[in-house]
Amino acid sequence: MIRIHPSLLSADPLQIGQTLAQLSQADGVHLDIMDGHFVPPLTFGTWLAKAVVAATELPVEAHLMVSNPERHLETLAESGVRRLIIHQEATGHAHRLIEEIRRLGAAPAMAVNPGTPVETLRDLWPELDLVLVMSVDPGWGGQAFWPGAIAKVAQLRQLGYHGDIEVDGGIDDRTAPAVVAAGATVLVSGSYILGTTKTPASRIAALREASGRTPKGRP
Ligand code: DX5
Ligand code: ZN
Repeated sequence: MIRIHPSLLSADPLQIGQTLAQLSQADGVHLDIMDGHFVPPLTFGTWLAKAVVAATELPVEAHLMVSNPERHLETLAESGVRRLIIHQEATGHAHRLIEEIRRLGAAPAMAVNPGTPVETLRDLWPELDLVLVMSVDPGWGGQAFWPGAIAKVAQLRQLGYHGDIEVDGGIDDRTAPAVVAAGATVLVSGSYILGTTKTPASRIAALREASGRTPKGRP
């Protein structure tokens, strides 16, 4: 079954507690950590991660859009974040960081930007809990879905990667069918679930329904 991870980037920051209480139908919470260097914006840090973990029963994952991710692994793992997703573009020492994440008791995952080929992760697949294929260039919520991500997901499967594939950016009920048909197993969605007047539960249900649908051409 497809897992759906709402991104708190689209939540009202002063209502995060109430938002978390409305996500009981989700499978996990996605926390977008940005440092103003790897990507231009600044968002959340360990301080909020700890509060989010304490406020939800759902597993929390941190998507580290930061330079020098090694500086933050320990504090995030201590905060109770279950999965740490680092960017391939942010480190030349992925193997060491993956080992470090496991040593800290969290699950290691790696993300690739649209311009980074998935083959660059190939040697590390056996060590990864999940691969995150970005379907926007990271930095902001609400961006248009990049259709090249569909081919990238399919390519990971063709190359023999059997683990979880998460897709992040521009996921909604129109784009989900194609990424799921290509082989994605986890969908991150920010603005579609939380940047709307619809209830999060109705949007999560709509995304689940769409995930089982046959894609009609390109989104
Ligand atoms: C983008 C972030 C995403 C973002 C997705 O840089 O990594 O997680 O919150 O937001 P939507 O679903 O609105 O594209
Ligand atoms: Zn993200």
